Amino acid sequence: MNAEMKLGHEALLESLRGLGAADAQVAIVLGSGLGPLADAVDDARSVPYDEIDGMPSSAVPGHEGRLVFGELGGVPVVLQQGRCHLYEGWSAEEASRCVRCLAELGVDALLLTNAAGGLRPEWEIPSLMRLTDHMNLQRATPLALHERGRGTPYDVELGALIDGAAGEVGVDLHKGVYAALPGPTYETHAEVRMHARFGADAVGMSTAQEALAAHAAGARVAAISCITNMAAGLSDSEPNHEEVVEAGRQAGQDFAKLITAVVERIGSLGAEGNKNERA
Ligand code: HPA
Repeated sequence: MNAEMKLGHEALLESLRGLGAADAQVAIVLGSGLGPLADAVDDARSVPYDEIDGMPSSAVPGHEGRLVFGELGGVPVVLQQGRCHLYEGWSAEEASRCVRCLAELGVDALLLTNAAGGLRPEWEIPSLMRLTDHMNLQRATPLALHERGRGTPYDVELGALIDGAAGEVGVDLHKGVYAALPGPTYETHAEVRMHARFGADAVGMSTAQEALAAHAAGARVAAISCITNMAAGLSDSEPNHEEVVEAGRQAGQDFAKLITAVVERIGSLGAEGNKNERA
């Protein structure tokens, strides 16, 4: 981290501490079209990103750009309603700064969500996929030298908890590998064939930086993709952002049901993963 990044990081850490983020047990980042989950938060208090010192903010349509504090199923949560992407010009450090700070403040579990293009023709649109791993193809990393070599950032036990919750509330949940790409353009048909052959199940433009940073900072990390479209060349139409946001909305009910059930189950386990401030 250079001096400028360090200043930004310290500023955001202080802002988040002042906002009471250290009380949250679970942090959730909401991807394109998935923002309405914030409506399910009880006693919600929202703060626009541009009022938070040190917080990089996104201008992508479908991303509201605010933090929401409150409770979901009785568990203290903080939601990031919208994220910033590398393709907007943010660095890996900036794109993951908020989740790294939340992990440092003691958030036990981080649930990352995103919209993604599906590489499996048999999957319905929209549907949900839990990430078992990712391929970071974004030509960037938020990790410092001493943070190398930690393997996959996705927590196996948290993954099993999510699968169990999905089964109990009757939400179909695929499992697969997410190829994180630089964006902002969608892939060519040839690129899609390449990613599928290399073992990816979905393609998207976010999540990897945040997962790596929060895991390195001590949080348990899980991620869920909303498969909003078939990746380019796998259906009759080319992907577009409006379709992605609309499919996210369509999946909203299942998504909210699943996330709420997951948060409740994490809450009933107590804070056991993160040994930072909160613990
Ligand atoms: N490709 C990359 N990112 C995406 C897609 C896609 O098809 N759909 C939603 N985000």
